[in-house]
Formats: sequence, C-alpha cells, structure tokens
Amino acid sequence: MTRAPRDSKNGFVAAYGDLVMEHFQNPRNAGELPDPDGEASKSNPVCGDRMRVMIRVEDGRIAEVRWQTRGCPPAIATSSFASEMVTGWTLDQVDALTREAIAEGIGGLPRDKVHCSVLAADVLRAAVADFRTKARTPGDQGSP
Ligand code: FES
Repeated sequence: MTRAPRDSKNGFVAAYGDLVMEHFQNPRNAGELPDPDGEASKSNPVCGDRMRVMIRVEDGRIAEVRWQTRGCPPAIATSSFASEMVTGWTLDQVDALTREAIAEGIGGLPRDKVHCSVLAADVLRAAVADFRTKARTPGDQGSP
C-alpha cells in the first residue's frame, strides 16, 4: 500500500479524488439565496462542522440551491457536489438522498472522511422538510 502524500501547506492528507479536489477548489452554488422556499442548518455530530442550505422549489422540483458550509475540504466539496446533484430533482428524490450516494457520486472519500458527506445529505433533506412545513402554512409561503 502506498502512503498518501501530505499537503505541507494545508496540513491535510491529499488522498482525495479529482472530483473532490475540483469541487473544493471551485465550489458551485455557494452563498445565500434570498427569500428561500426552504432552509435548514445543522452541525456534524462527529466534528462540529456546520452547513446551511437554502432551496427554491418550482413545480415540485429543486430549482435552485445555495449553501454555506464551515468545514473541512470534503465538507465543502460534498456541499458543492450535492447542490449540483439535486438541482432538478423531485422532493421525494431528495428525501431518499443518502450520504453514501453523495460519497459515491463524488468518487469516494477516505474512510475517516465519509462522515463529512453526512452534512450535505442531512441538511438538504431538512431544507425540503422545512419547505413542506411552510407550504402547509398558508400566508407564510405565498400561494401553495
Ligand atoms: S471533518 Fe467535519 S465535516 Fe469533515
């Protein structure tokens, strides 16, 4: 077995795949979504890193996603990757989203970093749940 090289500048083991590094270095959909239809934020129970997700829903599908993540490189990369992955999905598809699907989709994560994909899956599902709650409360959401 070969040892993964260390990034001397950032101090983390450079064992990530190309897609992870690409999304980490060029994150998509980062930022704030004004007046979101649903939003949620959570901390990773393993490390305390934090993610906030805001979604716009049109015709029962995710039309837009924005996220803000304070975390490690895989947390940033999976936030970016998942935001692209679910755009266009139905809400039921997001309900079924798993961290494994994100980790596999992005080309795999080192075993000790698989927990980093938990945030993106959990917070996206929670943002959909928030949308559904607001949609059931007339007046909070505009016309259903
Ligand atoms: S170490 Fe916290 S999400 Fe990766």
